[in-house]
Amino acid sequence: MSKVKTSFFCQNCGAQSAKWIGKCPACGEWNTYVEEVIEKPGKGAYAKSATRSQASGSRPRLISDIQFREEQRIGSGSQELDRVLGGGIVPGALVLVGGEPGIGKSTLMLQVALNIKNQKVLYISGEESELQIKMRAERLGMQQSNCFILTETRTDNIFHHIDEIQPQMLVIDSIQTLTTSHIESSAGSVSQIRECASEFQKFAKENGIPVFLIGHITKEGSLAGPKLLEHMVDTVLQFEGDHNHVYRILRSQKNRFGSTSELGIFEMRENGLREVSNPSEILLSSRDEPLSGITVSATLEGMRPILIETQALISTAAYGTPQRSSTGFDVRRLNMLLAVLEKRCGFRLSVKDVFLNITGGVRVDDPAIDLGVICAILSSSEDVAVNDKACFAAEVGLTGEIRPVTRIEQRISEAQKLGFEEIFVSKYNLKGVEAKKFSIKIHPVNRVDQVFSLLFG
Ligand code: TYD
Ligand code: MG
Repeated sequence: MSKVKTSFFCQNCGAQSAKWIGKCPACGEWNTYVEEVIEKPGKGAYAKSATRSQASGSRPRLISDIQFREEQRIGSGSQELDRVLGGGIVPGALVLVGGEPGIGKSTLMLQVALNIKNQKVLYISGEESELQIKMRAERLGMQQSNCFILTETRTDNIFHHIDEIQPQMLVIDSIQTLTTSHIESSAGSVSQIRECASEFQKFAKENGIPVFLIGHITKEGSLAGPKLLEHMVDTVLQFEGDHNHVYRILRSQKNRFGSTSELGIFEMRENGLREVSNPSEILLSSRDEPLSGITVSATLEGMRPILIETQALISTAAYGTPQRSSTGFDVRRLNMLLAVLEKRCGFRLSVKDVFLNITGGVRVDDPAIDLGVICAILSSSEDVAVNDKACFAAEVGLTGEIRPVTRIEQRISEAQKLGFEEIFVSKYNLKGVEAKKFSIKIHPVNRVDQVFSLLFG
């Protein structure tokens, strides 16, 4: 191994030092020094691999001369993943899949590697042994597959095997376990992560092979290597969910090839992840009789309408200060809605405990559930059930006015599709909407008290 020159740089001001120091003498910041390569013999492990020739050098070209063709996307075998990626895997894309330990990143990627059609996939694991991966594959109901497993952490060796096998897709589990021989710091350190990722970035771009990097999330909740990988890769996917719930959500945080507002929903089963293509069904609990404190709202996740259930429980505060607690909904927004109820509608809720829960363990930021939340709170407070065939989709303003929300037609048709009989929307939302084409009854409303008299008489 030829020696590489490295040096330490302050990540704050860029000062250089031959050895690591705790406090930067130039800017006074602590713990900012990181080892970086300043001179490599060759260009990293990938550059040394045998098959690479000079041919791949690029030249400046007039933008009008560049041939445009619809990117040939590769179907991943999972509709949810394809949609989050913006319509399939783009050749040469570098995709980072992040998430907390144990959330199911390895399961997701192994499942994709096993199910993908007509593509030779190399699954590189630095975390599990071949046997463990085989066991997991058995559990996932492995059928005949073109998936190769490699347990290796050194990038030199990995590129050597890639030359041999010539895969059409790579999965790396995880980027934090890789080491390149050009840097001496230990696996998982900032400089190792950056060097290894940049070797795979180069590999992906030059060969047009998609590479998935699995990355762990640090305690602070950011992908390890603070922001460092995020701008190197084309797509950042975040796999999240509540450990106590079986549902997992795949979000895209950055996507050079598609929208970032899409999301995919999966259910973690005994035999792997199942795609949930109709999320509304799982998010609505089944009940035989109408119960107080429950409403259903039509919200949007990305481009997809989802019906979710809100549950509220209002009780007299047992102790001095009333509690405000909410799961899946912003507490500050809850407090605002309570203030609106108090001030504009005269309901005395300041002496009550208020608990709010969005079922299914999802988090909703869509303001369109405001009206549903308010009605659930009142329904519980008055102990009168809301018609279980009623649905809500509107924002509530500080004066108690009901405000329009985006994509109302999609919301209405989703509610209709799932068998709801009436939907409450803002009066100002129906401009240009052909209400006649819906069989569901649409209530255009403009003030909160108007909704209450419609609901509770
Ligand atoms: P894993 O993919 O190992 O998580 P990560 O790579 O993100 O750390 O997922 C581990 C969890 O998933 C583990 O708690 C067991 C569970 N699991 C199932 O419920 N069903 C399955 O079929 C598999 C393979 C895992
Ligand atoms: Mg794992």
